[in-house]
Amino acid sequence: MKKIKTIEDLGLDYEIVEKLKSNGYNTLESIATARVEDLKEILGIPEQIVREIIYLAMKNVDVHIITGLEALEKRKSIKRITTGSKSLDELLGGGIQTKTITEFAGEFGSGKTQICHQLSVNVQLPEDKGGLNKSAIYIDTENTFRPERIMQMAKALNLDDKKVLENIIVARVFSVDQQIFLVENKLEELIQQKDAGLIVVDSLTSLFRAEYIGRGMLAARQQKLNKHIHDLSRIADMYDIAVVVTNQVMARPDTFFGEPTIPIGGHIVGHGCNYRVFLRKAKGGKRIARIIDAPDLEEREATFVIVSDGIRDEDVIKKRRK
Ligand code: GTP
Ligand code: MG
Repeated sequence: MKKIKTIEDLGLDYEIVEKLKSNGYNTLESIATARVEDLKEILGIPEQIVREIIYLAMKNVDVHIITGLEALEKRKSIKRITTGSKSLDELLGGGIQTKTITEFAGEFGSGKTQICHQLSVNVQLPEDKGGLNKSAIYIDTENTFRPERIMQMAKALNLDDKKVLENIIVARVFSVDQQIFLVENKLEELIQQKDAGLIVVDSLTSLFRAEYIGRGMLAARQQKLNKHIHDLSRIADMYDIAVVVTNQVMARPDTFFGEPTIPIGGHIVGHGCNYRVFLRKAKGGKRIARIIDAPDLEEREATFVIVSDGIRDEDVIKKRRK
């Protein structure tokens, strides 16, 4: 029997294959990990058949079975990018990790975009300086990428500012569809062409939030967001690349106690991202980062500052005052 490797090999009707593809289900893996409800809605066919299609895809996807020892080896192969602040790096267990999605969530002005800029510079540093000696791909949904700011940060590290800019590929996207299309169809090629070590999505959720308004749209929005994060996660793992996404928070309408704000996209984003870091503004221009729900890191806080050189530890301010 011919080995099933692509969607076409599954022996489905042409129409069904087309519908799957036009909705971003381009690989066996994407079908094997799809939700029954999503495919049922897209294909408009009975649930039983949807289950059979998913099962068939599952049977033909190489399952990732590894031993504990191999898992340990894989963990060891994870590389890290420094944030520019030792304290923030420590909070993250040594910096931003490859093969991983790290989410920075926080209110406006809390420093999410500044961290994305700094990481796009730092990924280009040699490995012994906390980088990967690779380039960055910056998906900008809010038009807040600033080349001037990159140059400032690059100069502070004695790097050639023009070269640093050349090694950041900026994709400005204007709609959810464009954002999804880019990740599904263009990103992998770009990663290989440009030898990227970092993907930034700033912001992951702003377009979703703007386009899917109201309760009635919530389910559709969450489904799309779920798949989008899943795609990013697969790419992070496959290309040994760090993925950093930002997320705004909104006031919680339903509680008087506990966290006053929650990140957009709720648990879909929370579960899809491996590390969720909350940022908040504190006195004297300081920023406080808190990591929550990390599988291997304790829940604690770190303080950092944003200065003209970029992201730094708070002692740079104290030193200057002396
Ligand atoms: P939203 O995208 O609006 O949700 O906010 P954000 O979390 O992305 O905030 P962002 O990273 O844009 O932080 C903006 C803040 O960074 C400003 O309010 C300044 O405090 C600081 N900042 C930005 N650029 C500079 C700079 O060149 N020098 C200094 N000292 N601070 C800067
Ligand atoms: Mg921002």
